[in-house]
Amino acid sequence: MPLENMKAMLSKAAGDDYAIGAFNILDYNSTKAVVQAAEEANAPVIIQTSAKTVIFWGAAPIISWVRELAGSSSVPIALHLDHCKDLDLIKECIESGWTSVMIDASSKPFEENIALSRQVVQMARPKDVTVEAELGAIVGVEDDIHVKEQEAHLADPEQAIKFCVEVKPDCFAPAIGTAHGVYKGEPKIAYELLEEIATKTAVPIALHGGTGLADDVFKKCISLGCAKVNISTQLKYAFIDGFIAYHKAHNTEYNPLKVIDAQFHQLKAGIIEKIKLFGSAGKA
Ligand code: 13P
Repeated sequence: MPLENMKAMLSKAAGDDYAIGAFNILDYNSTKAVVQAAEEANAPVIIQTSAKTVIFWGAAPIISWVRELAGSSSVPIALHLDHCKDLDLIKECIESGWTSVMIDASSKPFEENIALSRQVVQMARPKDVTVEAELGAIVGVEDDIHVKEQEAHLADPEQAIKFCVEVKPDCFAPAIGTAHGVYKGEPKIAYELLEEIATKTAVPIALHGGTGLADDVFKKCISLGCAKVNISTQLKYAFIDGFIAYHKAHNTEYNPLKVIDAQFHQLKAGIIEKIKLFGSAGKA
């Protein structure tokens, strides 16, 4: 199927208490793992690229392998640019065929965040590209964005309403206590804040920092309004661990295709598990 944007998939998910998995890909092999996992689970899925990954490969090769894999697939697939501060890169992705983008101006003062996010919505909407925008500061490292624990702050509910009224994002990422990367301790999720923001804004919420959250935390966040769940670090670990584990078990064999295949299967298994947990299996 041709790529689609996030609108229909998120509104169906939000209305039916499940969430779409958004998985950060690294290369062709990990993209293939996301697509085949979604097919096996018969689930809609979001292929997500960090700005760094787009800069590393270039937009053209990524869009070509994503279109090729999605074109021969029967499940709805969106291609989304994750946390991006750079309007030129956002523009390039929109023009190259990404169906969704995230503007992350959350480190800017509130009014500037609104202005920049609105600018991206104005750029994206005529091209039928959906937009995710962020408010508050999500702790951890994602791409080149580093937020220290002492700098992290949750989204303010009154600001969240004003932000969504003025920006009209298709998906909203308020900081609610989750973190990018590996959790050091038990995360303190602000469930009441999440519920208040989801109810008052009526915009599908993106749950960032998915790697390492407990199953019941995912389920509760989804029941309170998270319709998109981001998973990145898990794929980075599977990418490297899958490679190393195969080589350790067959250390005299130098067959790169077998190593790549082992990596693919490790990635795919973890993605299917998450898709099932998020309740999107069978919803394609
Ligand atoms: P993790 O790396 O913690 O899975 O977070 C992913 C994310 O939120 C990407 O924006």
